[in-house]
Amino acid sequence: MPDTLKISRTGGVVLVRIDRPKQMNALNFQVGSELVSALEPLDNDPEVGCFVLTGNEAAFAAGADIKEMQAKTFGDMLAEDYPAIWERFGALRTPKIAAVNGYALGGGCELAMMCDFIIAGEGAQFGQPEIKLGIIPGIGGSQRLTRLVGRAKAMDMILTGRMMGAAEAESCGLVARVVADDKVVDTALDAAGRIAAYSKPAVQLAREAVNRAEESALSEGLLFERRMFQSLFATHDQKEGMAAFIEKRKPKFTGK
Ligand code: HXC
Repeated sequence: MPDTLKISRTGGVVLVRIDRPKQMNALNFQVGSELVSALEPLDNDPEVGCFVLTGNEAAFAAGADIKEMQAKTFGDMLAEDYPAIWERFGALRTPKIAAVNGYALGGGCELAMMCDFIIAGEGAQFGQPEIKLGIIPGIGGSQRLTRLVGRAKAMDMILTGRMMGAAEAESCGLVARVVADDKVVDTALDAAGRIAAYSKPAVQLAREAVNRAEESALSEGLLFERRMFQSLFATHDQKEGMAAFIEKRKPKFTGK
């Protein structure tokens, strides 16, 4: 059983709650390794269709644990290669939704951005305050924030270390939806339930096609999308999904 996480499963949706309330859910190697140890086996479970990652009302995660990092040397950090464990979370193929209440700062903001999209409460606060500590983002912030919100806003956030509220985060593309604070987890679970009910191959290729948009020229991305689209016509789920529409009934997807 993980010490730093609470994990529950309802049907095809797995809810993971980061649970270090005394440290504002600050992240350390234990959180990262417990997260990937719990989710990697579920990533290949045909019954699991979506992960939701959340924290508590006060914080999604207030960043990497500063008290644990303070005395570390360059050699320690290089040997530990702390970012690598988080990249394994980012590499999970099952869709991931971040349900953010309170602070998502530093590594917390980066972890939310590793998810496929973010649903935030009205009181959520995002930021990359590493500059205030004499460091810079280390698990993708400079890259993912820039892709999501553009260079100007990313430079502003990363160089000043200021926080951004949920409304601004939604208006600049960091956040997909803003809802009342007490509706964040339910809204994310509802979205996750929908995703989990769809055809797994279609969901997987949809994510890969969207992710391709960030990593390739438009012509390459369009070709990738076209081939993925065409390949889904080899699945039973495509036949079933379209037959169900025509027959005015709910589809029964099997992932085949
Ligand atoms: C360790 C933390 C922490 C953190 C909060 N706490 N954030 N401990 N690491 N990142 C602890 C505090 O020390 C305090 O413990 C308790 O949580 C409550 O925090 P307060 O500061 O008293 O609360 P509040 O005044 O409400 O302010 C909340 C806050 C602030 C705005 C979130 O705590 C804050 O600015 N935290 C640091 C945010 C940050 O710089 N994150 C980036 C970290 S670097 P005690 O025991 O004193 O009560 C990073 C790099 C990522 O993330 C790259 C990795 C490779």
